[in-house]
This record gives sequence, structure tokens and C-alpha cells, in this order.
Amino acid sequence: MPRPEAELVGDDTATKTLIEIAYAKVNLALHVRERRADGYHELESLFVFARNGDRLTGHTTDDGHIGLTLEGPFAAGLEAGPGNLVMRAALALRDHVGEARGAAIRLTKNLPVASGIGGGSADAAACLRLLVRLWGVAIAEAELERLALSIGSDVPACLSSVTQLVRGRGEMLEPRVISGLAGRPMLLVNPGVALSTGRIFQGWDKVDRGPLVADGLDQIVTDGRNDLEQAASAEAPVIAELLDRLATTKGVRLARMSGSGATCFALFDSEADRTAAALAVYADRPDWWIMETEIRTT
Ligand code: C5P
Repeated sequence: MPRPEAELVGDDTATKTLIEIAYAKVNLALHVRERRADGYHELESLFVFARNGDRLTGHTTDDGHIGLTLEGPFAAGLEAGPGNLVMRAALALRDHVGEARGAAIRLTKNLPVASGIGGGSADAAACLRLLVRLWGVAIAEAELERLALSIGSDVPACLSSVTQLVRGRGEMLEPRVISGLAGRPMLLVNPGVALSTGRIFQGWDKVDRGPLVADGLDQIVTDGRNDLEQAASAEAPVIAELLDRLATTKGVRLARMSGSGATCFALFDSEADRTAAALAVYADRPDWWIMETEIRTT
């Protein structure tokens, strides 16, 4: 699958600096089909990506050291140590290369942490893209996807950040072009609650409500679901309030929770309706995180 191109800053010298955007991931529908023997759940999900996200900047260093610095509105919720998904991605790629390559990486954390829009996964995938280019790593697509999966279930899909049907635990990827999605105005709102993905999956009621067929937007609206909404709302009742609010705004096509929550999204036909909805939410709940964006055109 084609991957987003990193932006090159400055000249192509030893200190070349690349920028990657870690696009926010949104599950337009997320059907949970079964709990597997290994504890993971078998999913069918339509992933789309926002035009915006976190930002990774990096350059190579010749000291063999991988350094990570954090900045941005949500940096305080993270540590820069080896547990950080960006560090895990960098170390896994360096292990694959088998040489002590160095890099200095700066992560600008714009997306809320543990919020169902794949922030950590997108950061890890963006780090892999960044270092593959910076270090000039020759790695087959399938191998990079395997490495991505070892970091997290959503990381393989975030490598390409294109609209795709995702199945299995998150490793079976099928790019989709669905009319009316690319460029569609989208509002993301997080009510300020961090939820643990593992815990929300554990709260799934184990009822298989059927497969996901996602051939068009109307079908995604009428037949699609997020099977984790109930479990997430039980943990954070404010999600139900948020969904209600989004579903009743003018011009909304679809309002649903993304991933394991608590971020919810709303799709609109027009930017004007999206902006009006954003202003209305902000007027009532100025403490909630709001992002006005569009579905990424790929
Ligand atoms: O793979 P990742 O570390 O992102 O997943 C976090 C947790 O979410 C897993 O430990 C697992 O409990 C749960 N999960 C799941 N089924 C999936 C993906 C994640 O149960 N398909």
C-alpha cells in the first residue's frame, strides 16, 4: 500500500530533518465478532483517517542513540521512555536493521491520549515511516506490517493511513474507495476521559451482532455499529451524552464513537454545519477537546 510521503525540511545533507504527520484514526464502524483464544478480539472495522494528527520530526544522529522529546498540548500525559510507542517502534526497527543507528525524534502530541483515535498507534506508524526514510532501510511491506503489529493492533493500518476495511486483530487490511468519504467534513470530540482499550474490550457483552458490509456511506450509517459503545458508556456515561448531542446537531450524517472511546465523531455534508456544531459543543462544554477536520483524501 502506498505510504504518506514525509516532508523534507532543509537540504538533503547529513542533518536532513523529516516531518511525518500521525493522522488520527477514526473507526466509522467497529464490529466485534468474537473473543479469540489469545485474548484478542476478531474485528471488522472501517478505518478512515483525519487530515490532522500528531506530528513527528526527526533527524539521524551518529551517536547510535535514539532520543525522544515530547511537546504539544497532550505531551504531559506521556513519558518519553522505552514504553512510549514511538520508542518501541524505533527500537523494533533498529533491531530489524541490526546496527546501532541513531535518531533524534520530536513528537508534538496534539491528540488526546488513550482516546480511541489511535494516537499512540499512529505515532508508532509515523515513526516507522520516518526512520525507514531517514535510515534508508530496505524492508518489505509485509515485514514492516509484521513489525507494526508487534507494537499494537492498529499500527499496521496506520502505516498507510488510507480508508480501509480492517479485519482479524487488525492485521488484515483491505484499502477501500467509498464514494463520499474523502474530504468529508468531520468533527472529533473527546469528553476528557481516558479509557483503557483492553478494559473496554473486556466489557464487550460477547454478542456477535453480525458482519460489517461497508459499500457506501448510507450503508455504514444504517447497518454499521460500534460494538464497544455500550461498554465504553458504562465506564464513562458522558459518552452517551456526547453521542446524543452530536446526533442531534444540524446537518449531521453520522455520529458514533471511535475505537474503544471515548472520542466520538460526527460526519457532515458541509463545513458550515460542522463549524456550527463545533461552536455549539464548545459553548456548552468548553472543557471538551474538539477538532474540526476532514477525512483524509488518499
Ligand atoms: O494491540 P493493542 O496493544 O493496541 O491492544 C490493546 C488491548 O486491547 C489488548 O491488550 C487487548 O486487550 C485489546 N484488544 C483486543 N482485540 C483487538 C485489539 C485490542 O482485545 N483486536
